[in-house]
Amino acid sequence: MCDVLNIEQQQQSQLKSIASLEQSCNESENEISLPDVTCVNCSSNTGVSAAHSDKESQPLLKRMDVDISEINNVFPDDPEFTALIREAENAIDNGIYPERISQGSSGSYFVRNSDEIPKIIGVFKPKDEEPYGRLNPKWTKWMHKLCCPCCFGRSCLVPNQGYLSEAGASLVDRKLQLNIVPKTRVVKLVSKTFNYSAIDRAKSKTKQNVSDRFPSVGRRFHRIGLPPKTGSFQQFVEGYEDAYVWLRRFEDEPLPDDVQKEFQSQFERLVILDYIIRNTDRNNDNWLIKYVKEPSNNSPSNTWSPKKQPLIKIAAIDNGLAFPFKHPDEWRAYPYYWAWLPYAKIPFSNEIKELVLPTLSDMNFVQELCDELYDLFKTDKGFDRHLFEKQMSVMRGQILNLTQALKEGKTPLQLVQMPSVLVERSRSAPRGRIRVMTETFTQSFQRKTPFFSWC
Ligand SMILES: Nc1ncnc2c1ncn2[C@@H]1O[C@H](COP(=O)(O)OP(=O)(O)OP(=O)(O)O)[C@@H](O)[C@H]1O
Ligand SMILES: [Mg+2]
Repeated sequence: MCDVLNIEQQQQSQLKSIASLEQSCNESENEISLPDVTCVNCSSNTGVSAAHSDKESQPLLKRMDVDISEINNVFPDDPEFTALIREAENAIDNGIYPERISQGSSGSYFVRNSDEIPKIIGVFKPKDEEPYGRLNPKWTKWMHKLCCPCCFGRSCLVPNQGYLSEAGASLVDRKLQLNIVPKTRVVKLVSKTFNYSAIDRAKSKTKQNVSDRFPSVGRRFHRIGLPPKTGSFQQFVEGYEDAYVWLRRFEDEPLPDDVQKEFQSQFERLVILDYIIRNTDRNNDNWLIKYVKEPSNNSPSNTWSPKKQPLIKIAAIDNGLAFPFKHPDEWRAYPYYWAWLPYAKIPFSNEIKELVLPTLSDMNFVQELCDELYDLFKTDKGFDRHLFEKQMSVMRGQILNLTQALKEGKTPLQLVQMPSVLVERSRSAPRGRIRVMTETFTQSFQRKTPFFSWC
């Protein structure tokens, strides 16, 4: 009898300590999960400071409102992607853990499947390990954040939402059928190889110990392991190399005409994507090229097989620094590095015009795109409706310039030299007995330009 009482007492005290540990962790989580980057310019010309005081700046969704399919990593509109995530989860369950990519400024991970020889199937970038996320594992970024945030951060971007930008780029790619961004969605994954705070690891360890000793108590825990991390998951594309590697080769060894034409078509798609999302990080190592050459005529293996088409493809990766809420106007311009390539001096082809002009000139389509981005971006804890509207004003301005450039037969280089435009949406209800909300769009030019500008 005494023993039973003792065990019960022990269980009660363990439960209490877990409860207090959970409470302190939750408190600390709430405290530190706020965007911890202070480099956003809240000066009056951005209008951001005012936004913070009004209700719209409050997150619209609380944790519990998040779609359950999101938590379960289920994407009803894309069973293939759902299956890919299942493969990743199974591999992690079987001890094949994601591996941090050594290069790069953030905590990004190669995720494998559980094949006999595990294959990389995706790249996972957790929100809290982004360059300025609270658990970024790279000390250089920590130093930047500490010593000189204004020089290294991009003040035109909403901080710590790179994973949404990755998924948003994929959404734009899908909507416009550009087909150059490897599929990317927001998922939740958990792995002991991710960077966790000491408190999360301690909490998980204590729960595990209690659960091992007192299984009946363990069953009461909602989650024994480490907390899942929200981040972007991008499908891994095989056989590609960083663009600068191939671009250098193309200089010495020009492409055959038909391949060149195909490459130009792919290049134009990259330009369209980057310009619409106003990518601020398109270096030549942030896009990939795959080139499978046509086998030479005298190769023996070619004798019996049908003639193979050469293949050239572009993959636009690393789209985490896009969707700014104002055009870059500080000391750096964040140019599109492709603007210096010879391909940027060739006018847009008819093929690309036929692909994107009908949709981009349609106001309803553009609004639909904004609405879908809203559905994606609003899931973030720090979502701010006012900032989102500003992001969309920049995007609409980019789309306006782009449609004009396509109609006038401009080149990508001429496109990036056009003045920066904002198209702001405002909603008003005219006075009268019947009140119908009307939307008006106002176009304006951003006058302030970056200190350094190359093109
Ligand atoms: N979807 C992908 N398919 C194939 N390879 C990829 C993919 N995504 C990334 N990689 C490879 O991983 C490398 C690092 O990826 P990425 O640039 O996205 O990471 P990062 O941590 O954001 O780095 P940084 O911010 O410094 O550019 C790339 O240079 C590329 O070689
Ligand atoms: Mg990169």
